[in-house]
Amino acid sequence: MVAAQEQEILNQAAQQLAAAEIADLDKIKSEFLGKRGHIGRMLQQIGQLPPEQRKEAGIKTNAVRSKFEQMLSARREELKRQRFASQEHEAVDVTLAGRGPRAGALHPISQVTERVAQIFASMGFAVADGPEIEDDFHNFEALNHPEDHPARSMHDTFYLQDGRLLRTHTSPVQIRYLKSNSRPVRIIAPGRCYRVDNDATHSPMFHQVEGLWVDDQVRFSDLKGILLAFFSEFFEDASLQVRFRPSYFPFTEPSAECDIKLRGKWLEVAGCGMVHPNVLAAGGHDPQLCQGWAFGTGLDRLAMLRYGFGDLRALFENDLRFLAQFA
Ligand code: DAH
Repeated sequence: MVAAQEQEILNQAAQQLAAAEIADLDKIKSEFLGKRGHIGRMLQQIGQLPPEQRKEAGIKTNAVRSKFEQMLSARREELKRQRFASQEHEAVDVTLAGRGPRAGALHPISQVTERVAQIFASMGFAVADGPEIEDDFHNFEALNHPEDHPARSMHDTFYLQDGRLLRTHTSPVQIRYLKSNSRPVRIIAPGRCYRVDNDATHSPMFHQVEGLWVDDQVRFSDLKGILLAFFSEFFEDASLQVRFRPSYFPFTEPSAECDIKLRGKWLEVAGCGMVHPNVLAAGGHDPQLCQGWAFGTGLDRLAMLRYGFGDLRALFENDLRFLAQFA
């Protein structure tokens, strides 16, 4: 009897809800849950029952109430969805002008890489590349870093489980290119490199460009002339100055750091030197018969200097608001 009464209330609720609009829902709610509502009255009646019946009646009434609340909120959601869908439909104003396609643009690193390649092409350099997953031989051994060489610890290397590694610099391309080409060798090799490093001026993935010139007679002064020509052109500063400071790299002897004076300030921009005889030999060229020079520079850093921004990682966060500035 009681169960039938509850079912009756719920049937009635279902009928009213099915016919309701959103604006009717609050009224229906109070018709059922309000003090004088169908369910509200049931609740009040509980107090008049003999104490031993109250518990059971309470449980039942609460079950009806929560069922009603479920029905109500399901209907509210359904009506909202319907309204939203129809508004979306109506919101299309066919008289508005179209948005038009937005033109994409090359990533600043791609732009800088192209620019570097163009400048070197004008001086007779070809573009070479090599794998980003390298082996120890090309990344270190052949570049005159024997095992246990302390310079290896300058490179915080990502190793793969099979013993290969992510190249820590573009220098291994020197070996690969020398092995499969005869002289004169005159290349640049731009590409991605990887090191365990992450702060405002280092990203675990970064870009370098390697330069290599090997021939029967090549001098350090050629290196100086080429780097001066390159940096003047790259930074569009005909009076740009370069200077060289003694340094150390296992794969060059002698080695130097190259600085440029840009907007009145000396900045370190490249490592370089005369290719070490062991490197020429590892690349299959007789160090008695030829010489060479090489350099390596960071493309990300060149981009930062050229465009004047301070956090290298912004290049790789893919925030279009940042990238669109270079379009
Ligand atoms: N491979 C070096 C580095 O990543 C940069 C470099 C220095 C490259 C001197 C060269 C070079 O070719 O001659 O720090």
